[in-house]
Amino acid sequence: MNKQSSLLKLENINMYFKLKNGDELQASHNVNLKIDNGEMVVVVGESGCGKSTVGKMSLGVLKPSCGTISLDGQDIWQKGFKWPAKLRTEVQVVHQDSFSSLNPVKTIFQTLSAPLLRHKLVKNKKEALVKINELLYSVDLTPVEYFIHKYPFQLSGGQRQRVSIIRATILKPKLIVADEPVSAVDASSRLSILDLMKGINKKHGIAFLYITHDLATARYFAPEGRIVVMYLGRVVETGKIKDCISGPAHPYLQALLTAIPHSDPQKAKEPIKIPLKSFDMPKATHPPSGCVFNPRCLYATDICTKEVPLLEKYRGRQIACHNKEDIPGFKK
Ligand SMILES: Nc1ncnc2c1ncn2[C@@H]1O[C@H](COP(=O)(O)OP(=O)(O)OP(=O)(O)O)[C@@H](O)[C@H]1O
Ligand SMILES: [Mg+2]
Repeated sequence: MNKQSSLLKLENINMYFKLKNGDELQASHNVNLKIDNGEMVVVVGESGCGKSTVGKMSLGVLKPSCGTISLDGQDIWQKGFKWPAKLRTEVQVVHQDSFSSLNPVKTIFQTLSAPLLRHKLVKNKKEALVKINELLYSVDLTPVEYFIHKYPFQLSGGQRQRVSIIRATILKPKLIVADEPVSAVDASSRLSILDLMKGINKKHGIAFLYITHDLATARYFAPEGRIVVMYLGRVVETGKIKDCISGPAHPYLQALLTAIPHSDPQKAKEPIKIPLKSFDMPKATHPPSGCVFNPRCLYATDICTKEVPLLEKYRGRQIACHNKEDIPGFKK
């Protein structure tokens, strides 16, 4: 590995989709993102802002229209890069829908033994059985004998997601892209699944790109990590999670944080006043001119309707806002 390089780097990524009606939609606008070995990075934003597109490009399943994606310093779309073999082992995925991501006609043993045998991590089925027993035990799928020969439909959503997480870690990847891994899981299993992934990061040093629309889980998942806040395909604020969440600078991040229910039960009863001019997200096919957030922003001025703000350093993070100096501090 090139010591100078990040594990994964997305540089000046633009992604355009051609729609059936002839419209063009830009799902990523000059997105830059870097993940170092062992790092926890969270991508947040509302539905349709381009989170999964970033995840798919990081996994190498979607080729950006322009820009560079590199893994260990090597451009993954450059001729000669050994992919998908390298990407397949080094970057793994955990999807939101564990049901469709696990093969319904294979038992848990069959699903998990296949990569072990294919990549010669075990010599035979007997060794695979021992290994899978250990793995199921490590994620609390016990008694192991009860789970190992079950089919996905015989498990709960949370249990299936644990199997998906084992499958993602089995080849000892360097990075796991987890796209909304807990949003389809019942609330009682959510924290334990996030804890499981946190434990994997700590124990094996595997980096995570956690994609979510839920800021509360972002903070829980990676209190020491970095956050990338997206709005209509653009990064509007990025920095250390603890800085951005305790003192959000961009009006959009401030609005998202206001929408999180208060942990103090007394304050939680008070009506929430979200600082937005409108709740409607503009159409991605016809984004507003200037700053794409301007029609919903309480602080928008003339320049915001005309010029796209650059992502610039500001108070220890980066933010894309013309009026950053004039945005009042965040109060909840
Ligand atoms: N293959 C595709 N063809 C056309 N448009 C697409 C395609 N994939 C994504 N899009 C569009 O690109 C935009 C970003 O989609 P993306 O799935 O990345 O959003 P997201 O932030 O993951 O949303 P969600 O939270 O709902 O999962 C959306 O407007 C979406 O409709
Ligand atoms: Mg998505």
